[in-house]
Amino acid sequence: MAELSLRKVKKVYDNSVVAVHSFDLEIADKEFIVLVGPSGCGKSTTLRMVAGLEEITEGEIYIGGRKVNNVPPKSRDIAMVFQNYALYPHMTVYDNIAYGLKLRKFPKRVIDQKVREAAEILDITELLKRKPKALSGGQRQRVAIGRAIVREPQVFLMDEPLSNLDAKLRNQMRSEIIKLRQKVNTTFIYVTHDQTEAMTLGDRIVIMKEGYVQQVGTPQEVFHHPANLFVAGFIGTPQMNFFDARLLREGDRYSVELGGDGPTGTLRVRLSPEKEARLLANQVESRDITLGVRPEHILLSEGAEAVSTSVEVAEMMGSAVHIHVSAWGREVVIVVPVSEEESESENRFWRGAAVRFLFRGSASHVFDRETGMNLERQTEPPRVAEPAEDLAAEGAPDVPAEMADALPEPASQEQADPFAEDE
Ligand SMILES: Nc1ncnc2c1ncn2[C@@H]1O[C@H](COP(=O)(O)OP(=O)(O)O)[C@@H](O)[C@H]1O
Ligand SMILES: [Mg+2]
Repeated sequence: MAELSLRKVKKVYDNSVVAVHSFDLEIADKEFIVLVGPSGCGKSTTLRMVAGLEEITEGEIYIGGRKVNNVPPKSRDIAMVFQNYALYPHMTVYDNIAYGLKLRKFPKRVIDQKVREAAEILDITELLKRKPKALSGGQRQRVAIGRAIVREPQVFLMDEPLSNLDAKLRNQMRSEIIKLRQKVNTTFIYVTHDQTEAMTLGDRIVIMKEGYVQQVGTPQEVFHHPANLFVAGFIGTPQMNFFDARLLREGDRYSVELGGDGPTGTLRVRLSPEKEARLLANQVESRDITLGVRPEHILLSEGAEAVSTSVEVAEMMGSAVHIHVSAWGREVVIVVPVSEEESESENRFWRGAAVRFLFRGSASHVFDRETGMNLERQTEPPRVAEPAEDLAAEGAPDVPAEMADALPEPASQEQADPFAEDE
């Protein structure tokens, strides 16, 4: 249990790639933080700096109030689970979990108790006598987590622990991690490229792109109030629809207008009072914008103001149909919930079927067309890579993101378990 503080943390690799730029975050004791973003955005690098596996180029990291910049991994009181955590193949599950405690010379009785408790939490008691090769991927990952649990670390770090599992197992393990979190009451930093994992696990989510933090917030905040176009497009599935539109201000009122002379016609939607108030506070004037509307917030409607279009593709998902229509020259995805009876009766969204839709002002997200910033938010200008750094990165060899995830060779025990005590 500990709070963490990352202050202006920067990482420049030897080849002059700036992997992380000025990362600032205060993490509360027992908070579950998820770092999420596309491959190569600097998630693993950030986590590895917290772990002490990567040197910090600039800035400071504090764990439980103690500055740890120069503290070696094994003295940071943390445990880490990797995507491919190496288990010792010649040891049983029991011994794999017990190993770190044995090195620390815990009494046998205490070790036994801790191993059995961890096995209980992870539901692997039946497997304690097996060797890793007789385990499935999901079971191996549980053992790796078990090794981390028995250490009772102040901070639990996980780097894409579920990415190697198939979809079904991943979903199951995701709920296991939620349960785990309730049982081992500690601070978590969890890395994933999967926005669903981030949304379901995190108390707060840190969305990263190209080494820059884009937004920090609760799942609700980042979903309903994305800071910019990148976050809006990254969080939520199916992806948010984006349109070229115009924001119109008339006194204190704001509306958005789409379309013109084309076949789809024009749609004008007044924004909700909350949105109007925020735009007003930011003194936003009429302008061209990028409008975002989530697929689940577009409504089929027979109302006079609804625009006419037709179905191009319909994907039946069971409880909903995702229909793709073309409007204002681009594809628009609409999620239509279907009732049980409807889902069993004939599909009404055949290719070419006429549909009319609209959306509400409360579901409209307005972004600056140039910078991509959400105009409702009062924030500093977006942080983008400076040209000089781009040049530097271009000359450098491209390191696959997997490299950072790659296991330290399990040749020596030290490397396989960088957090273990020396013998
Ligand atoms: N050891 C390394 N040496 C040089 N560049 C690296 C190294 N590890 C990662 N990188 C680079 O740093 C950036 C961030 O990588 P990483 O933190 O692994 O991203 P993520 O975990 O989000 O996929 C990428 O451009 C990657 O190629
Ligand atoms: Mg990574």
